[in-house]
Amino acid sequence: MNIISTDTYKIRFKDEGYAHLNELVASNNYTNFYVLVDENTKKLCLTRFKEKASFKFEIIEIKSGEIHKNLDTCLDVWNHLTNKNADRNCLLINLGGGVITDMGGFIASTYKRGIDFVNIPTTLLSMVDASIGSKTGINLNSIKNQIGLFSDPLSVIVDTDYLKTLSKREINSGYAEIFKHSIISNSNFKKLVENPNLAYDEDIIASSIELKNKVVKKDKFENDVRKHLNFGHTIGHAVESLFMNKKNKLLHGEAIAIGMVCESYISCKINGLEIDKANEIKNHLNKFFNKVSFSKNDIDKICNLIKYDKKNHLNIPKFVLLKNLGLIETDVNVDVNLIADSFDYYTA
Ligand code: GLY
Repeated sequence: MNIISTDTYKIRFKDEGYAHLNELVASNNYTNFYVLVDENTKKLCLTRFKEKASFKFEIIEIKSGEIHKNLDTCLDVWNHLTNKNADRNCLLINLGGGVITDMGGFIASTYKRGIDFVNIPTTLLSMVDASIGSKTGINLNSIKNQIGLFSDPLSVIVDTDYLKTLSKREINSGYAEIFKHSIISNSNFKKLVENPNLAYDEDIIASSIELKNKVVKKDKFENDVRKHLNFGHTIGHAVESLFMNKKNKLLHGEAIAIGMVCESYISCKINGLEIDKANEIKNHLNKFFNKVSFSKNDIDKICNLIKYDKKNHLNIPKFVLLKNLGLIETDVNVDVNLIADSFDYYTA
């Protein structure tokens, strides 16, 4: 796999990534190394990391799950680092899924005004999305990524061996972002639709990372084309927030898949997307995700949660819609009744 260069750091695959990390450690004056894990990555991923790392490190463990991606967890880690006398020259290595890489990046970027961090994503979702693109952050109550900052890791290591530790459900969640990248760029779309077994394919994963990286390189701070990456996320994030406090939580990709189906329908209604394309997107996603039921009350809550979307301007929700595959319009106003109708399309 070739190295992928962002403007400021490189994304390396497997042994090339670990070799670079070991070099970094050997050639810098770091005072200590901390590896941030949750109970799952501690159990399932740390052994491989230990085999690859040529240096000693301390482990910081936090609880897994989006519900713990909050200020309380950050306080625990900041306190831990402080109690250990961790200075500005220590390195934080984030070994985990999107929660670990988002929150670890945020913790590192704010501790003593910023220490170096490296992301080692262990979920498909974090490999193709969360760990790259320099967004770090946490949720506020159940509002997704309300607090955070853009901050670059020193490097990202993509090691697909960690995918063996994931359930099919986790893999499918990551696949939703791979499929989103193919929709917004009109690359690999046909290939994915015709072969629903490509979620583990290393070339597809690398190409999905490339697609995201190309967008981020053009517009890191999301003033323009980076908004395209939010296709499916206006409704998707609201759905994810709604379920965050329910017993049957949804994974990020599961919520985004619902968002993509609804926003494809809205794209047909007001943006000229052909209904055949929306149906193709919906039918493909239906192969990966079980249908979720929404009551009228749920949909009202979702419409309310959309008010907190980060793309809103003067509190008016701004949608990212398709005109066609690879042809996107941003900042589109959508009537609340149409949002509700899109859930009928999703359910039908
Ligand atoms: N996940 C969307 C972005 O990184 O901009």
